[in-house]
Amino acid sequence: MMVLWYHLVAALAVWTAPAIASREQIVFNNQDHPRVKQVAIIGAGAAGSSSAYHLSQFAETAGIPVNVTIFEKNTQIGGRSTTVHAYDDASFPIELGASVFVEVNRILVDAVKTFNLSTSSFSTTGEDIPGPDIGVWNGNQFVFTQDNEGGWWDSAKLFYKYGLSPLRTLNLMKATVGKFLKMYEEPVFPFASLTQAAQNVGLLAVTSATGEDFLRENNIGTPFAREIIQASTRVNYAQNIDNFHGLETMVCMASRGAMSVEGGNWQIFANMVASSKSSILLETEVTKIEQAKDGGFDLISKGLSPELHSQILTSRFDDVILAAPFQYSNIDISSIDFRTPDAFPYVKLHVTLFTSPHLLSPAFFGLSANKAAPQVIVTTLPPGEHPPADATAGSPGFYSISLLQDMINPKTGATEYAYKIFSPAPPNSTFLAALLGVECEEGEVSDEDITWIYRKAWHSYPYEYPRDSFEDVKLSNNLWYTSGIERFISTMETSALMGKNVARLVVDRWLQADKLGMGSTDL
Ligand SMILES: Cc1cc2nc3c(=O)[nH]c(=O)nc-3n(C[C@H](O)[C@H](O)[C@H](O)COP(=O)(O)OP(=O)(O)OC[C@H]3O[C@@H](n4cnc5c(N)ncnc54)[C@H](O)[C@@H]3O)c2cc1C
Ligand SMILES: *[C@@H]1O[C@H](CO)[C@@H](O)[C@H](O)[C@H]1NC(C)=O
Ligand SMILES: *[C@@H]1O[C@H](CO)[C@@H](O)[C@H](O)[C@H]1NC(C)=O
Ligand SMILES: *[C@@H]1O[C@H](CO)[C@@H](O)[C@H](O)[C@H]1NC(C)=O
Repeated sequence: MMVLWYHLVAALAVWTAPAIASREQIVFNNQDHPRVKQVAIIGAGAAGSSSAYHLSQFAETAGIPVNVTIFEKNTQIGGRSTTVHAYDDASFPIELGASVFVEVNRILVDAVKTFNLSTSSFSTTGEDIPGPDIGVWNGNQFVFTQDNEGGWWDSAKLFYKYGLSPLRTLNLMKATVGKFLKMYEEPVFPFASLTQAAQNVGLLAVTSATGEDFLRENNIGTPFAREIIQASTRVNYAQNIDNFHGLETMVCMASRGAMSVEGGNWQIFANMVASSKSSILLETEVTKIEQAKDGGFDLISKGLSPELHSQILTSRFDDVILAAPFQYSNIDISSIDFRTPDAFPYVKLHVTLFTSPHLLSPAFFGLSANKAAPQVIVTTLPPGEHPPADATAGSPGFYSISLLQDMINPKTGATEYAYKIFSPAPPNSTFLAALLGVECEEGEVSDEDITWIYRKAWHSYPYEYPRDSFEDVKLSNNLWYTSGIERFISTMETSALMGKNVARLVVDRWLQADKLGMGSTDL
């Protein structure tokens, strides 16, 4: 049966060798249509959308017809890339999840060009807004503030305070990114084993070390590591460098050319799906995957929208790509004989977005009333503090507070500010009132002081503890998994890279099966 199957595929391949073509013809003369490969992708985030996009391209090049169906339980494409609207007004989109990518993110940057999306550089500086651009707060005091327009690296102040450490960090980051970029190219790409790929490009030693040790080994001083680098790992990943691996630490320092898509990064993924011509079933949750007798899979899914309510669908696929963290996917795979992906802890991150006519209160940060608070407050730990691995915020109590932009409240016409807070627990009214320097009456902040608020708790990214092995990409024959890459690096780009990698592996396997089938004589 398997052999026949390979021959079916063989006939679809345009590169079929003439010597065996006649035999292929015998097999195929009875076929009205070439057998279309049926592929299911579970999840339409960066990974699933990129899988669909690249699969359609690779299959087309290989001459293999595919029919891709994407199952997505949300109402929209994007997964952790999603926007909400300030004032519930569509003209004020704000990223609720992944907000920035950088110029070395090839897949995203290429997609932005291909789909003609507009990007804006990620800069929070409103020149007419008072206060330094950024301050690093340790719960007691600002250990660093910056109001230089030229960016962190250009700042003489940084060099004055931290000596050669900033330059060494920059060079170390460049070398690390250089190694990572080899994962996009042959012979490393495509990779069936992420562990092996990491080893081949020389990054396994980097993921095996804590950020703290990796920086120390590279002569980067403790003040810079704790005050600047750790402020970055906390704002990006809600984690401290003592229990966060060296590779993700370097990712946090690779911020050159940071940008976001105007209107929302999710548009990259919506365009990838549209361009792939896949069918997408929104508000449809996959609940179970079963092995079918022909080597394929039956997917059982449930409609979630009022119209689809509880409608159960069973569909047969040749290949299934699970493009979501398995442990939060609620999929029953117990009937299949393969290694279940490890459950590993994710950060529970609370994102709070709100608008207010007020700037941050200087008093909240112990500044005198004639001083303005920084527009973006990132945090680090005071010297000597080592909070436990699962309570990383420590004495600041939050990871970051950012003034995103000023905007005109469409209801009042007044100038207001949009803010984003990352914290380990939802900020309460007492905290928000003190932060804005306003009254908290009967436990509430008035609607005039906070004019719009939106709260979301995410399983945002894994705890990036040092490690030297990663989840396999292939869970079993024809069953693929993208989310293992999140313990290596968790970003939109790396999920998109894994989606592309899986697409390449799937098509290569079809092609290889094809060859094996042709070489066999037991038809
Ligand atoms: C607050 C926050 C800030 C971040 N900041 C950045 C940033 O600035 N830059 C950056 O690059 N990254 C950032 N990230 C990380 C980034 O969002 C993720 O690494 C990336 O988006 C993961 O993409 P994914 O496709 O692998 O997973 P997801 O985006 O989680 O996609 C998985 C999809 O699968 C769907 N799904 C799950 N189970 C099922 C099921 N049973 N049936 C059907 N559908 C299912 C989900 O609904 C979801 O849409 C941030 C994340 C968060 C939460
Ligand atoms: C494509 O897949 C869908 C299931 O998602 C199925 O209904 C449809 O018939 C398939 N089309 C082809 C051409 O195989
Ligand atoms: C790209 O978008 C711009 C404006 O958004 C538009 O003027 C231009 O024609 C578009 N180009 C292509 C190739 O679609
Ligand atoms: C509000 O939050 C602050 C800081 O997170 C905390 O110290 C305080 O106890 C909380 N107050 C209430 C009433 O929950």
